[in-house]
Amino acid sequence: MAILVTGGAGYIGSHTCVELLNQNYDVVVIDNLCNSSAEALRRVQELTGKALSFYEGDVRDEALLTKIFEGNAIDCVIHFAGLKAVGESVFQPWRYYDNNLNATLVLTKVMERFGVKKLIFSSSATVYTADNEMPLKETSRTGGCTNPYGWTKYMTEQILSGLCTADKTWGAVLLRYFNPIGAHASGRIGEDPRGIPNNLMPFIAQVAVGRREKLSVFGNDYDTHDGTGVRDYIHVVDLAKGHVAAVRYAAAHTGCEAFNLGTGIGYSVLDIVSTFQKVNGIPVPYEITARRPGDIAVCYASPDKSREVLGWQAEKTLEDMCRDTWNWQKHNPQGYGE
Ligand code: NAD
Ligand code: WQD
Repeated sequence: MAILVTGGAGYIGSHTCVELLNQNYDVVVIDNLCNSSAEALRRVQELTGKALSFYEGDVRDEALLTKIFEGNAIDCVIHFAGLKAVGESVFQPWRYYDNNLNATLVLTKVMERFGVKKLIFSSSATVYTADNEMPLKETSRTGGCTNPYGWTKYMTEQILSGLCTADKTWGAVLLRYFNPIGAHASGRIGEDPRGIPNNLMPFIAQVAVGRREKLSVFGNDYDTHDGTGVRDYIHVVDLAKGHVAAVRYAAAHTGCEAFNLGTGIGYSVLDIVSTFQKVNGIPVPYEITARRPGDIAVCYASPDKSREVLGWQAEKTLEDMCRDTWNWQKHNPQGYGE
C-alpha cells in the first residue's frame, strides 16, 4: 500500500515516514522544504533501511501532483504540508490562507481526479474554542479562532467535511494534535525550528545546549497548580503511530471523523523545565515574564475516542519526551545544520 505524505520532510512528517516504512508501507513524499531539510529524509531512510520516493515541490503545484499520482499507485494521503507559526500568521494572513487552504484544495482536486479518496489531515487542538471545559472531546465547541493559522485548520476541517458529505465515497480523518514534543530515540531526527523557536520544548532544548541564554516562562499567575500554563504534551513518535492507526481506519471507513491525539495528561511549564533538568542532569535557566497574549491557562485532550475507535493511545512518558528531545539536540546542536 502506497501513502503520499505531504510535508514529509518536516518534524512530524519525518517521524511518521519512519513508522510507515517500519510497517512496510510504500512512502512517497512531496515537500517544498520551506521549513525543513532533505537531510531529514536521508536519515529516515538510514534509520529504517528502506527507501522512499521524494518529490521536491509545492503541494499547490497541480502539474507536479498530477505527475506524482501518474507515477505512483497512491492509496491514501497524509497531509502535513502547511505553515504553522501562530504569531507569524497574524502578520502574514494572506500567505497562510494561500498556502494552507490552496494546498488542500489542489490536493483534493487531484486526488478526486485519480479516484484516491482517503485523506488524513493534520489538524490541531487550536480549533477548539477557549471556553470549553477540560478535557476537550471531539464534540467540544470549535471555531472562534484567534489567529489566521487556527482559522486555516478550522476551514480545512470544514472543506473536508463538506467533501465527505457531498460524496459518500470520500473518507477524511481529522487528527487534532495537542502539543507534540520529543524526537526519535536514535537522536537522528527531531524538531529543527528556523530562527527563534515559538514553542516551549525547542526553546528549552536550545537553552540547554547553550544557543540561548534563558527561557522566558510566560506568566505564573494562571489558575493552575504552580501558576504556569498547562498543556497536553505528546511524544512525536506516539503521534506518528497515531497516523498509522488512522491510515488503517481510513482504509475501512468513509465519511469525515475527527480524533484527538493527546495523552489526556496536563503538565505545566515548570513541570517540563524540572523534568527536563532531572532526567538530563542539565540546568535550564529561566525567568518569569508577562503572559503571552492569546495563551489560555489549561488545555488537554480526552484521548478516549482515539483509544476506542482507532485502537491507539500514547505510551511514552514526559521523561521519555525530555530525554529524547535532549538526545536529539545534544547530538545535533545546529539541527540538520543547513
Ligand atoms: P513542519 O513545518 O516541520 O512540517 C511541515 C512541512 O510542510 C515542512 O517540511 C514544510 O517544508 C512543508 N510545506 C509547507 N507548505 C508546503 C507546501 N505548500 N508544499 C509543500 N510542502 C510544504 O511542521 P510540523 O510540526 O511537522 O507540522 C506538520 C503539520 O501538523 C502542519 O500542518 C501543522 O500545522 C500541524 N500541526 C503541528 C503542530 C505542532 O505543534 N508541531 C500542532 C498541531 C498541528
Ligand atoms: C506551551 C506553553 C506557553 C514558550 C502552540 C499553538 C498550537 C499548536 C501547538 C499548532 C504555554 C509556554 C512557551 C516559551 C513559555 N500548534 N511557553 N515560554 O501555545 O500550547 O500551542 O503549539 O497547531 O496551535 O498555539 O504551545 O509550546 O508555544 O506553549 O512559557 O518560550 O509554554 O505560555 O503555556 P501552545 P507552546
